[in-house]
Amino acid sequence: MKVLVLGPGGREHAIVRALLADPFVREVHAAPGNAGIAEDVPTHDIDASDPAAVTGLARHLGVGLVVIGPEAPLAAGIADALLDEGIPVFGPTRAAAQLEASKAFAKQVMAAAGVPTAMARVAATDEEAGEALCTFGAPYVVKDDGLAAGKGVVVTDDLDEARAHASACFAAGGTVVIEEYLDGPEVSLFVLSDGRTVVPLAPAQDFKRIHDGDQGPNTGGMGAYSPLEWVPATLVEEVISRVAQPVIDEMAHRGTPFAGVLYVGLALTSRGMRVIEFNARFGDPETQAVLARLATPLGGVLLAAAKGTLDQIDQLNWSPQTAVAVVLASENYPDTPVTGRRIRGLKKAGKVDGATVLHAGTALRDGKVVSAGGRVLAVVGLGDSLEDARSTAYEGLSLIELQGGQFRTDIALKASRAEVTVSGPAAATT
Ligand code: AMP
Ligand code: GLY
Repeated sequence: MKVLVLGPGGREHAIVRALLADPFVREVHAAPGNAGIAEDVPTHDIDASDPAAVTGLARHLGVGLVVIGPEAPLAAGIADALLDEGIPVFGPTRAAAQLEASKAFAKQVMAAAGVPTAMARVAATDEEAGEALCTFGAPYVVKDDGLAAGKGVVVTDDLDEARAHASACFAAGGTVVIEEYLDGPEVSLFVLSDGRTVVPLAPAQDFKRIHDGDQGPNTGGMGAYSPLEWVPATLVEEVISRVAQPVIDEMAHRGTPFAGVLYVGLALTSRGMRVIEFNARFGDPETQAVLARLATPLGGVLLAAAKGTLDQIDQLNWSPQTAVAVVLASENYPDTPVTGRRIRGLKKAGKVDGATVLHAGTALRDGKVVSAGGRVLAVVGLGDSLEDARSTAYEGLSLIELQGGQFRTDIALKASRAEVTVSGPAAATT
């Protein structure tokens, strides 16, 4: 089988690597890709959100599967365009991708499916926002009701800052979702679906804030690790039965079946498990950590999700090792990142035993790799323990030079010291 992977990031580099390791996959192509992906497979410089360009390329290459990485092509209806052409696609239709594209829509689906989530209100004016903020109290959670690459959410104790974020969203023509604050550790669980059957991957944890100790603004994600030793043993089963299957059934019932990966973002709060958000795609950088451990060939699984045959695949196999992914970001990320800077030491880092360098915002300029985005790359370390995986990832990262580059030094640190705890009902099932 030939596969075309759409997207420019680290998640897509991880997917490309996993597909290359699948004996059933004969050829992998990517569009547009990045400098690292281009070293591995042929890349094609098209707009991945342009339906005609994508269907044209897929037909020209004669691919048997298109894998859509990021949210933008999903929201642009790329899956719909491919389905119209009879080309198998991993990734939901535009209507199904609303689960990510609109937080208000996701809340409606959760309500209909009885899924536990934060209480929330939609606000369209400063007055409505003020009332909702008063109702829920501090800490305040204000979410832009649209795609914002993980950066449209403000969580703050400062009422003025919460109001200001809502006003800025209104000024940009949008609405906001204001909700109760969820305490407790967060978990990302990716659940594959063909519209009917669900197959969970291994849980991961993401680090959203830019600085150590969860300080500073939210980012797209600064690091991740998988699996999670501290989660209750029955968590995955509980997420399937209380969240994923009901949502997939509700979407099918609405006539907009969801095929692809449902990213379930959870908080294990003192009052039990709650959904924070859904995404309609793999998470970045969680995918870099999760796929590093997947022993089952990925191509066959994604094809089964695309073709409606997930009920026929064998149980997924996982490496017993632990994976830690640490992101290197550009100077000034998550504001306006400084790009175009030379990156050195990539080869040396890749030679560290157990380390893999996955590119994100990189490009080739005069044959040299330069930074081209906010998150530049991730080093993934595999090890027999979290400490081993961490030290491998950080050893690799220490060999990479990028002027102004930022990374967190505490990815998976608390978990490696067994300091992540779940309290309340969610812990009862440990
Ligand atoms: P989202 O885009 O909805 O995933 O939100 C981004 C991040 O903001 C989440 O990963 C959480 O860290 C934080 N967040 C979102 N909603 C809440 C909430 N209700 N309570 C606490 N933190 C939240
Ligand atoms: N790492 C969070 C996300 O992909 O949305």
